[in-house]
Amino acid sequence: MRTVYVFNGPNLSRLGRREPDIYGAETFDDLAALCRRTGKELGLEVDVRQTDDESELVSWLHEAADGSIPVVLNPAAFTHYSYALRDAIAQRTAPLIEVHISNPAAREEFRHTSVVAAVASGTIAGFGLRSYELALRAIAEETR
Ligand code: DQA
Repeated sequence: MRTVYVFNGPNLSRLGRREPDIYGAETFDDLAALCRRTGKELGLEVDVRQTDDESELVSWLHEAADGSIPVVLNPAAFTHYSYALRDAIAQRTAPLIEVHISNPAAREEFRHTSVVAAVASGTIAGFGLRSYELALRAIAEETR
């Protein structure tokens, strides 16, 4: 079975408790279950991880690049300023889709910039947890 990584950046472990008016009532465990369920339907083995640590996220991206493993990535706040993350994504050897639960373009000005978008295969934002499901479907089609 093909493996896909789903990597999540800072504060996403707090889903359900974190600004539910923006990010919804579902928890990180609900998100992980949704990703695994979608993966099963698509014949993908989905490995879901979360970290608040930029260097850990960079090393996971190196691991994906070395193994040619596709990635669904919610970089969270790193989206807006982490050139280290951008440089790690630029080394990718398989599709990588940037996802967001909310629509950053419709929020505060600082969220309008993504320093990673240009090195991702594409971006899906604003569909709640469904953004991840749509990204997994796109990866399944891209890697068929
Ligand atoms: C987010 C949007 C970011 O601006 C924010 O910093 C997050 C979550 C989203 O999924 O909507 O932490 O990536």
